[in-house]
Amino acid sequence: MRKPAILLAVTAYFGVLLLAMAALGISWYRAGLAPDQPIAFPHTIHVSKLNLPCNFCHIFVDRSRHAGAPPLEKCMSCHTAIATEREEIRKLARHYEEKRPVEWNRVYSLPEHVYFSHKRHVKAQVDCSECHGKVGAMKKVRKVGSLKMGWCVSCHRVRGASLDCATCHK
Ligand code: HEC
Ligand code: HEC
Ligand code: HEC
Ligand code: HEC
Ligand code: HEC
Repeated sequence: MRKPAILLAVTAYFGVLLLAMAALGISWYRAGLAPDQPIAFPHTIHVSKLNLPCNFCHIFVDRSRHAGAPPLEKCMSCHTAIATEREEIRKLARHYEEKRPVEWNRVYSLPEHVYFSHKRHVKAQVDCSECHGKVGAMKKVRKVGSLKMGWCVSCHRVRGASLDCATCHK
């Protein structure tokens, strides 16, 4: 092959790759699988770099149905001193001072008629990543587990957990 031909092939290859990635990004966005948050909170830094355990922030995850969102005091225990000049931290500090909770957009949410409990799954040692993916590697949380009935039931079948309708529909 002559040089220009190779160049063209390489350009086309990466072009297609980029387009595919963009399309995927747009489709996640469209489907609401990775909603923007009022403060761009990166799990990457807090989980992968600082090694904070999930339940440092999601304090109810092993005690209740709901995992819970962190109280702003938790954030401010570091951010009264760390990165205070950054735009996202300024927003955070304003919420804290005005005692206005941040209204995080939900990524995962089940319809009312389904019963689910974090506590039971955490106690049975089902790892967070089996349902939520590797959150520590996501700059922005993206929905991984579909939360469809078939998704729940197929894991229950494999793990020998209950398949009784009344388990999930009270
Ligand atoms: C244990 C300390 C600690 C706690 C607790 C903590 N953070 Fe952080 N956070 C950091 C550090 C360290 C960085 C990285 C700062 C840097 O880039 O120099 C950071 C970075 C950030 C950034 C990115 C700032 C930017 O634009 O570069 C945001 C946003 C943020 N934190 C929000 C939060 C929120 C919201 C909470 C509470 C849910 C929280 N943090 C709790 C230590 C903490
Ligand atoms: C420093 C605090 C902090 C730590 C540590 C942390 N999270 Fe979070 N998490 C947050 C905040 C704040 C949000 C809401 C904003 C967002 O979605 O990014 C959130 C959102 C989430 C969501 C989306 C919830 C929804 O809306 O449906 C999941 C899932 C999640 N975290 C899982 C994890 C897992 C798994 C770990 C441990 C590997 C973890 N988090 C560690 C603060 C934290
Ligand atoms: C068996 C699957 C499964 C496992 C394991 C799991 N989650 Fe969830 N998670 C869900 C489902 C389903 C929802 C939506 C629940 C709802 O709408 O009531 C959810 C919602 C959440 C939310 C947002 C709503 C809330 O409950 O506060 C956070 C935060 C979260 N999970 C964090 C975690 C963390 C941290 C772990 C690990 C300690 C974990 N999850 C383990 C399935 C799971
Ligand atoms: C990755 C595997 C996995 C997924 C996905 C999963 N579960 Fe489970 N679930 C388990 C295991 C394992 C148990 C058994 C816990 C025990 O023995 O206490 C369980 C137990 C339960 C229980 C308690 C059962 C009882 O006997 O009271 C409920 C309720 C439940 N799951 C609902 C759900 C719902 C709703 C979903 C989907 C939104 C779901 N689960 C998805 C693994 C999973
Ligand atoms: C392990 C949990 C689990 C079990 C067991 C389970 N379901 Fe579900 N079911 C769900 C979840 C989650 C949804 C909501 C998501 C969806 O629509 O797929 C749902 C939704 C439904 C819906 C509404 C569908 C719709 O389109 O809105 C019906 C009807 C239903 N289930 C019937 C049953 C029957 C009948 C059984 C027993 C044979 C059963 N389910 C067992 C988790 C479960």
